[in-house]
Amino acid sequence: MSRRILIDTDPGIDDAAAILLALASPEISLEGLTVVHGNCSVDQGVTNALAILTLAHADHIPVARGCDVPLVQPSLLAPETHGNTGLGYAQLPPPPRGPIQQHAVDFLIERILAAPGEMTIVAIGPLTNLALAIRKEPRIIKAVKEVFIMGGAIRHEGNTTPLAEFNTYVDPHAAHIVYHSGMPITLVPLDVTYQCILLASDVARLQRIDSPIPDFLADATRFYMEFHDEYQRIEGCIINDPLALALTFMPELCEYESLFVDLDISGGVAMGKTFADFYRMTDHPPNMKVALKVQARAFIELFLQRMEALSQTIPN
Ligand code: RIB
Ligand code: CA
Repeated sequence: MSRRILIDTDPGIDDAAAILLALASPEISLEGLTVVHGNCSVDQGVTNALAILTLAHADHIPVARGCDVPLVQPSLLAPETHGNTGLGYAQLPPPPRGPIQQHAVDFLIERILAAPGEMTIVAIGPLTNLALAIRKEPRIIKAVKEVFIMGGAIRHEGNTTPLAEFNTYVDPHAAHIVYHSGMPITLVPLDVTYQCILLASDVARLQRIDSPIPDFLADATRFYMEFHDEYQRIEGCIINDPLALALTFMPELCEYESLFVDLDISGGVAMGKTFADFYRMTDHPPNMKVALKVQARAFIELFLQRMEALSQTIPN
């Protein structure tokens, strides 16, 4: 029985990789994409999401447009990381269809309540859509099966400020709502994703297959690798979002601790910084599972094998 999944996303280069991994994995039934601001504007993200689904012959999957700005903070996008289009140097044909009319917040609520205990949310962008869905319809808190969140930096340094990770920094108030909602959350922070580095040699391996999938990944990740080299002296690129997706069907890739996790919304230098009560110094019970160790190369190998399998089905 495949796991029914909705991905809330700001596509984004590593988001695109996560969407392709979902489509390449028989353990998953991808039932919709909800798009949020973040790596690029929400309208650019909708175009990217639709184009990625067309690339992978998945035009049957609905895409819903969500929020274009954070709850309180000013808008912050990431063209330096993902390029002006959000997909680096990749250029996909304009998608043949548009998003559904329903807003992403309402789509999330409708789909979760229509299948109590069955829907898993994989949230790989700022949490604005999910936070508003919780506020609009609190019944989804108990109706959702599980929520996997790519975000936060527990013991790890930030990637957007010295302390804060992008998805939490862009909309810290939304993250605060979701983290304290009572939803069954697995957090996938930079502590594990920063070990998941896709190398140029990995991409070259995929390009042995004559398919638009490796061509797309090569063009998208070439920009992303240039960013990682210039800004962080990392050889390769960090594929954060596909790890969060992979843990929905291969949780054994990581080790977890149940912890009380909070984040700073006081507006100072630590804005958006996530932190965990490892020594139970507060009287707060754990509010999530946190992935803190990862078999990084085993995950990269999984990703590559799934991309090879998907590419075999979609020849140039
Ligand atoms: O900090 C990394 C996260 O922020 C990833 O989800 C990336 O796509 C951006 O959204
Ligand atoms: Ca993302």
